[in-house]
Amino acid sequence: MKPLSTRTEQFTDSVIRRMTRISDQYGAINLSQGFPDFEPPKEITDRLAQVAGEGPHQYAITWGAANFREALAEKQKHFSGVDVNPATDIVVTCGSTEAMMATMMSVCNPGEKVVIFSPFYENYGADTILTGAIPIYVPLKPPTFEFDADELENAVKQPGVKALILCNPSNPCGKVFTREELLLIAALAKKYDIYVITDEVYEHILYKPHEHVYMASLPGMRERTIICNSLSKTYSMTGWRLGYVIAPEEIAERIKKVHDFLTVGASAPLMEAAVVGLKFGDSYYEELQNHYTHMRNLFIDGLKNIGLTFTEPQGAYYVLLDISEFGFEDDNVFCEKLAEKVGVGAVPGSSFFRENVNHLIRVHFAKKDDTLLAALDRLADIKVKMKV
Ligand SMILES: Cc1ncc(COP(=O)(O)O)c(C=O)c1O
Repeated sequence: MKPLSTRTEQFTDSVIRRMTRISDQYGAINLSQGFPDFEPPKEITDRLAQVAGEGPHQYAITWGAANFREALAEKQKHFSGVDVNPATDIVVTCGSTEAMMATMMSVCNPGEKVVIFSPFYENYGADTILTGAIPIYVPLKPPTFEFDADELENAVKQPGVKALILCNPSNPCGKVFTREELLLIAALAKKYDIYVITDEVYEHILYKPHEHVYMASLPGMRERTIICNSLSKTYSMTGWRLGYVIAPEEIAERIKKVHDFLTVGASAPLMEAAVVGLKFGDSYYEELQNHYTHMRNLFIDGLKNIGLTFTEPQGAYYVLLDISEFGFEDDNVFCEKLAEKVGVGAVPGSSFFRENVNHLIRVHFAKKDDTLLAALDRLADIKVKMKV
């Protein structure tokens, strides 16, 4: 038989989602794949029950139901100050995963380059391969995850660079880019005429005093910023697969075409039910932050008591644990053994880093107190059980 496509030979299946399967195999508490074990807001699920009876049950307009786009444009204006025309500037997608893929396909020709900060969310690697774009990685250096301005400029000014992907707040390192850092990135984007594709799925999951600054709100950036985002994290509904792109009309038009042929559209009944969430007042987002701050504190206090070394996130809901003391050469082996012997699922850090980093593993804390306490209880023995 003839070989299958070379483009699908160049990447593996998702390490994050593979670790979920390994966790299940060993009955481990799964702190690998980032999804909560608590429910979405009741107002949304109650509305879903109504929608089940009333509909809609057929295709929505391919780029998203009008009431969903209108509510989204208002929310975006409220938080970022950016004016968004709901008729022209929004494409509702199947999660921000599709938003990013459709954006990459709309922005890049094969052979063009994309600048990505490393460590990075693993989808970006596959997105570049599937679009034929070439990634250039710029390190965010542990443990503080700062970048070097000259290193970034050297990457951005390479011939053929079309875009930079900015994951802010960052998965996996929990970095929240400061206004100064974003202004620096914006200045380079304008100087070298590149697009900035943002991944802002954690925009509302921040720990004080850190604040989310929207790249699109910076001077001269609205026209070259393509926002990819979703409802997955903000409303604890990763299974609903509702995401979106916000971009200037000419760019959104291209993305709509790609989206139309990839998926036709996001789920019509789920869009209808989620509108109520998009209209929540400020108190919802304050409570969300309080809840995440509580989970973060519970988890990191527990890790400190066990005597582990780790990064404290400024945003998002991940902790990078330093496993140097255990003496493993391969963090994949460490994570499999952790699931088997300790009963906790984690993601090998090497799957996020371009550089040769294999002393970090990622765990997340978007879980009920009971789940976090049970995981901490299991981790209490880690130093005994994970000795090589
Ligand atoms: C940074 C980042 N972007 C995108 C996604 C995928 O989000 P969605 O469920 O909207 O496809 C995730 C999920 O963990 C993520 O961490």
